[in-house]
Amino acid sequence: QMQASLALFQRIFEYLDLPVEITEPEKPVRLDTIRGEVRFEDIDFAYEATQTELTIDGVDVTVPAGGRLAVVGPTGSGKSTLSYLVPRLYDVTGGRVTIDGVDVRDLDFDTLARAVGVVSQETYLFHASVAENLRFAKPDATDAEIEAAARAAQIHDHIASLPDGYDTLVGERGYRFSGGEKQRLAIARTILRDPPVLILDEATSALDTRTEYAVQEAIDALSAGRTTITIAHRLSTVRDADEIVVLEAGRVAERGSHDKLLALDGRYAALVRRDAQLTVPVIAP
Ligand SMILES: Nc1ncnc2c1ncn2[C@@H]1O[C@H](COP(=O)(O)OP(=O)(O)OP(=O)(O)O)[C@@H](O)[C@H]1O
Ligand SMILES: [Mg+2]
Repeated sequence: QMQASLALFQRIFEYLDLPVEITEPEKPVRLDTIRGEVRFEDIDFAYEATQTELTIDGVDVTVPAGGRLAVVGPTGSGKSTLSYLVPRLYDVTGGRVTIDGVDVRDLDFDTLARAVGVVSQETYLFHASVAENLRFAKPDATDAEIEAAARAAQIHDHIASLPDGYDTLVGERGYRFSGGEKQRLAIARTILRDPPVLILDEATSALDTRTEYAVQEAIDALSAGRTTITIAHRLSTVRDADEIVVLEAGRVAERGSHDKLLALDGRYAALVRRDAQLTVPVIAP
């Protein structure tokens, strides 16, 4: 047991010793009210200093407060990476990302955490009850608030149908939610957090039509009144966006509304023609 524990602690200390790359500035800016305008000001980004090609190369896009931006493009074009730069999972290597005109690197962590909510391709559920998994997004949430969020996220009826309802244990040794259900739990969490800026990285996994519809309803409830940046894989999402950006190898290849881009008859039109699935392999079959 000693041997095993030593090995375990060695691993833990390795992680604790990792340098922290994202730090809070010395005099952080605190915003009490956040409108939610997001600007990518001519940004560059590379994961490694040695990269010959930038992962994000000169992207310049503004999303007004309450506006809806959809990002589409081939797999590996940098869509998820672009979204990581808003909550500062990584920092830009050139240009700047601003929220309400303030460089995200100047914001205090609390403001940034309140400002940006992310619903990613992966959702992590803890080995705890459904209620605890949701409350983790807002520790002081009442049972009524949790239920209201679950209802808006179209997952309440499913939870209520489980033998232990909201007390059902989730995770590895507990109840297993499907991909579409997990997505709706993630949406419920974000509804509880209530951030003005929302980043949605749509799952690429195909959902059946009914689940897809439920997820779409949940997303509509969540995005109402918020600045929304969606990495879209489904045509239904992009159609409603105020602006669509087509990324290719980290650069903006095309931009505009759905109708404008269709009329342009370029890359976007080709993506739409192929399928409703907007992520295509880099090498076409
Ligand atoms: N943590 C990382 N370290 C190094 N390179 C990375 C990392 N994450 C992604 N990349 C690389 O950056 C590029 C962009 O990846 P990204 O995940 O942003 O693409 P994407 O457009 O979201 O693709 P998909 O549609 O498949 O989700 C890819 O070449 C990828 O291999
Ligand atoms: Mg991605």
